[in-house]
Amino acid sequence: MSRIIFLLLSVILFSCSTADDTLTPGRLLTDTDGVEASLISAGGKFQLGFFSPAGSSNRYVGIWFRNISVDSVVWIANRRRPIAGTSGSVSLTANGTLLITDGNGTVYWNSSTEVAVANPAAQLLDDANLVVREAGGDRNSYPLWQSHDFPTNMNLPGMKIGWNLTSGLNRQLTAWTSATDPAPGNYTFGIEKQGNAQQFVWQGTQPRWRSGPWNGLYFSGHPRIGLESLVRYEFAVDEQEVAAWFAVNNPSVIVRGVLMPDGLLRGEVWIEETQTWSGWVYAPMDPCDVFSPCGPNAVCYPNAWPMCRCLPGFRPRNPRNWDVNGNLSDGCVRTTALDCRNATDGFFQQSSLKLPDTTASAVNRSMSLEDCRSWCLGSCSCTAYASANLSTGSASGCMIWTSGLADIKFFYGSSSEQPLHVRHEKSIARLCRRLTCRHISASVTEPMESGQRRMRTIIITISCVAALCLLCVASCVWAAKKKKKHRSDEEEVEEENLDLPLFDLRTIAEATGNFCIDNKLGEGGFGPVYKGKLEGQEIAVKRLSKTSTQGTDEFKNEVMVIAKLQHRNLVRLLGCCIQGGERMLVYEYMLNGSLNTFLFDKDRRRLLDWRMRYNIILGIIRGLLYLHHDSRYRIIHRDLKTSNILLDKEMNPKISDFGMAKLFGGDETTGNTKRVAGTYGYMSPEYAMNGIFSVKSDVFSFGVLMLEIITGKKNNGAYQSVHHQNLLGEIWSLWKENRVLEIVDDSIHHSCPFDEVLTCINVGLLCVQERSEDRPIMSTVLQMLGSNSSLLSEPKQPGFIVIACIPQIATSLSLRCRRFTAPSAVPFPFYGAR
Ligand SMILES: *[C@@H]1O[C@H](CO)[C@@H](O)[C@H](O)[C@H]1NC(C)=O
Ligand SMILES: *[C@@H]1O[C@H](CO)[C@@H](O)[C@H](O)[C@H]1NC(C)=O
Ligand SMILES: *[C@@H]1O[C@H](CO)[C@@H](O)[C@H](O)[C@H]1NC(C)=O
Ligand SMILES: *[C@@H]1O[C@H](CO)[C@@H](O)[C@H](O)[C@H]1NC(C)=O
Repeated sequence: MSRIIFLLLSVILFSCSTADDTLTPGRLLTDTDGVEASLISAGGKFQLGFFSPAGSSNRYVGIWFRNISVDSVVWIANRRRPIAGTSGSVSLTANGTLLITDGNGTVYWNSSTEVAVANPAAQLLDDANLVVREAGGDRNSYPLWQSHDFPTNMNLPGMKIGWNLTSGLNRQLTAWTSATDPAPGNYTFGIEKQGNAQQFVWQGTQPRWRSGPWNGLYFSGHPRIGLESLVRYEFAVDEQEVAAWFAVNNPSVIVRGVLMPDGLLRGEVWIEETQTWSGWVYAPMDPCDVFSPCGPNAVCYPNAWPMCRCLPGFRPRNPRNWDVNGNLSDGCVRTTALDCRNATDGFFQQSSLKLPDTTASAVNRSMSLEDCRSWCLGSCSCTAYASANLSTGSASGCMIWTSGLADIKFFYGSSSEQPLHVRHEKSIARLCRRLTCRHISASVTEPMESGQRRMRTIIITISCVAALCLLCVASCVWAAKKKKKHRSDEEEVEEENLDLPLFDLRTIAEATGNFCIDNKLGEGGFGPVYKGKLEGQEIAVKRLSKTSTQGTDEFKNEVMVIAKLQHRNLVRLLGCCIQGGERMLVYEYMLNGSLNTFLFDKDRRRLLDWRMRYNIILGIIRGLLYLHHDSRYRIIHRDLKTSNILLDKEMNPKISDFGMAKLFGGDETTGNTKRVAGTYGYMSPEYAMNGIFSVKSDVFSFGVLMLEIITGKKNNGAYQSVHHQNLLGEIWSLWKENRVLEIVDDSIHHSCPFDEVLTCINVGLLCVQERSEDRPIMSTVLQMLGSNSSLLSEPKQPGFIVIACIPQIATSLSLRCRRFTAPSAVPFPFYGAR
């Protein structure tokens, strides 16, 4: 009996070992034999063989996803030295070295295996790892050689990036030279083990992007949002290794990390329905993510203008460069030197930051935070400290910086778990407190400006006194003018303050019939809207829900800012009411209501002919252009959608709810971000996944809006099932098949010039491209609408944030999908998914 079992077992073992996933000495995989001669991993996921990249006839040996035909190569052996013809073959020598040779026996690549074994076998595993071991050897032992130790440009689940400190092996990704040439390009991705270890993308030897230090839970420069549900990150720092890797929560989801030829690191997930690799995380992600754009001791704010600001207690090293030349990389210097000997220095704490570069930091993972502070105070060269470890539940461990604090970025909506404590001289403590409390708003507050202006005036005045030259006189005149202008600005503000009527609650209650339900026009993301009549004029009153964290004065200030924005494509704010815990905004009433009540109604839709729709599109563009670029403040709308486009009696569009995200502030400055305003279906991928907003996220929403206007269909944003695509997916498929006009709303087919519609669809698709860098800004959008579609660039694939709700991965992300449908219970980040 036992003998039979033994026999059976050895048959099974035998058949396994000679399976098609294994190469043994004597076997030759030749290019001319094609697929016949390739290795296929046991589960059928990966294949090893000869291939040519698209657009090239060179032959390479590589590993690729067997069931994916798009851009599927994950590893290449002879990337530096391709074979010109098809005479190549792969073999394994008797001592365990892999060889690629051509018909003449010339060696193109070998695995440089260092240790020889008697009976080797090379096996392709289901995680895309090609492993050389002694045949029948221990599967848990470290292999003789494995392809995962010599990655190309791609990181797969379970594959380590970084250092094996015992052997000195350093695993890095190296980008392809171009999309058609796999030879090593300019960019590498790996781990810098100096100081407190971090991940880097380098361009040659220069850092281009930095992950920030690992804190036991995540990299300081990667907000966790959007990552944890799909993959799990691991990072090991010990005597044996400094290495990072990731695992997928749901094994049926295909995820990979790619270093693109242009240096962009991209996390991708395969979407079967659209047959595309969809990006879900990027590095660098925005202008602040590129290594240290502001120089030392400055913080980069991705959505602010100017983008760079000094840390409290610091001033620009070269104000002229900052202010006039726009060269921000000089960074900042201390206003007051540290006073180490008297031991009177203190610290100020700043949260929501990507911690500064730790390449030159000292780290101690077991120290308490109090000891950390003392350690820093005790060292005259210490400039800042922070906790190093969050994995124990509370902040512990210690890292200290001893030089300039480089590459700090502010994160919208990130947490305050790991604040940076920046050392300062005691006398400026008050200044620090004031500065950290300041409401650093994304677009309005410009704390640098008035200070700089004053400083410039002082400098000029001093030089005037010193030398009585003509130039000085001239600049005195100039300074005086400047001062005068400044003063008149202030007066203007005051006058305008008086301009905005502050209604009392009784007046508003009367005007709306005591907020009678019959007068309710609808319910927006920020509360109900009522119709009313005030002194003969029809008004709309938005009664804000009581969730704003802002104080009354702050709120009033913001309302003033918004009241100052006047444009014929923005709804006019007539006044406000702040009383008894109530906050209300009074707007002009728009006779025709909101665009969605026309567009998505099968009868009313017919009333909107093409001219009207085109006019509406142009109006929205002009309104947005004003908000983004022309007004005195840069306003990012963040919730652009058809229900926020109101129509006056002549069907002119007016954007409403602009500045609402602002009114509810808090988002940008405090750690407890509970709301990213926005509507599912209109949100750009980077905003939905990472809470990052910019003018380009508005452009994305605008693109969706425009495509909805053309098609009369709603972008519900979700893949309901495998067969049900969302609007963007549908348009994209038709665009690729040159059938895009089929999607134009039936009720305007007769009234529209196809060229114009085609241009609009093209522009719409350019606006919803996945990467924000690829999307045009609003002024470009306006220009593009005036040109012929044939002159426009070809759009790249739209951003589908909806990977979260693809059935295939719904389980691993069920939480997020549920959030979409139950917005009231939203902890983060989806709000108002109506
Ligand atoms: C192989 O050798 C033949 C004859 O010596 C020569 O014509 C051919 O170019 C060689 N091929 C390669 C790839 O070197
Ligand atoms: C394996 O054999 C090849 C020649 O067949 C030789 O060049 C190589 O050095 C050997 N490797 C080891 C580790 O002995
Ligand atoms: C490092 O490499 C050595 C041999 O090359 C191996 O024995 C060891 O297990 C590796 N360490 C880790 C942590 O992978
Ligand atoms: C430090 O202390 C010394 C004497 O104790 C004093 O003269 C000096 O002004 C102090 N420095 C500062 C910056 O306060």
